[in-house]
Amino acid sequence: MKKLTLYQVFYIINNKLHIKGKVKKVVEKGISQAVIQRLPRYYRYLGELLENNVERISSSDLSKKMNVTASQIRQDLNNFGGFGQQGYGYNVKYLRTEIGKILGLDGQHGFVIIGAGNLGQALANYASFEKSGFVLKGIFDINPKLKGKKIRGVEIRMMEELKDFINDNFIEIAVLTIPKNNASDIADILAETTIKGIWNFAHTDLKLPKRILVENVHLSESLMRLSYKIGHSEKELSKE
Ligand code: NAI
Repeated sequence: MKKLTLYQVFYIINNKLHIKGKVKKVVEKGISQAVIQRLPRYYRYLGELLENNVERISSSDLSKKMNVTASQIRQDLNNFGGFGQQGYGYNVKYLRTEIGKILGLDGQHGFVIIGAGNLGQALANYASFEKSGFVLKGIFDINPKLKGKKIRGVEIRMMEELKDFINDNFIEIAVLTIPKNNASDIADILAETTIKGIWNFAHTDLKLPKRILVENVHLSESLMRLSYKIGHSEKELSKE
């Protein structure tokens, strides 16, 4: 019988543990933030491949599609046990499922939106979050004119209901789309709930207990990076 390397044994054991659901994410310890940052992109591309009925893909084909080097893909995915087979490439469905597990997308996450203004309503109207397991359960605001209005069937409620709603409905994520001056008061309220994470669009840093994780989003920073690229590509082109 062919001898297995220590790594292969570890990989098989880890997969078995995954299947039994006893221990998850054994091999991902010590993964760099840079790799974690790239995983959603892999997940998205693999989803597109699946939609086009592509069952397997080589790292070089995936690299052409994603515009990253094949060695980068292999290195990234090796962090999690590889998922690929020599001469076969990657099984798209399996790889996507495994990356989904790593990203915590193998279950549902209930979320609420706090601030039902322009941005809050735009996010509430974006149905595709549900495809990744993020289910909008409630929308909250202080403006009484918005009370009872529904967005995609989800009711806008007043802030007085927020705490109980989060605790009673096992809400994991709160999306903050309120003016930044009001954000710290909301953070104080959220700190008294069972919320696990905040997707913070208000342009301010929040003070929260360590158990509540925060992901700050700044669309304008992305726009500034684009502005930088435009400025620099114009300089590069003028040199030619
Ligand atoms: P908006 O004025 O249309 O909506 C704000 C909503 O928050 C209103 O419905 C208001 O009644 C509600 N609100 C105010 N105080 C509240 C409180 N204490 N509790 C609950 N609801 C409250 O504003 P818009 O355009 O939707 O922007 C919302 C926030 O998102 C702003 O802070 C803005 O700067 C930020 N923003 C951030 C972006 C980013 O990339 N991070 C992009 C666009 C906006």
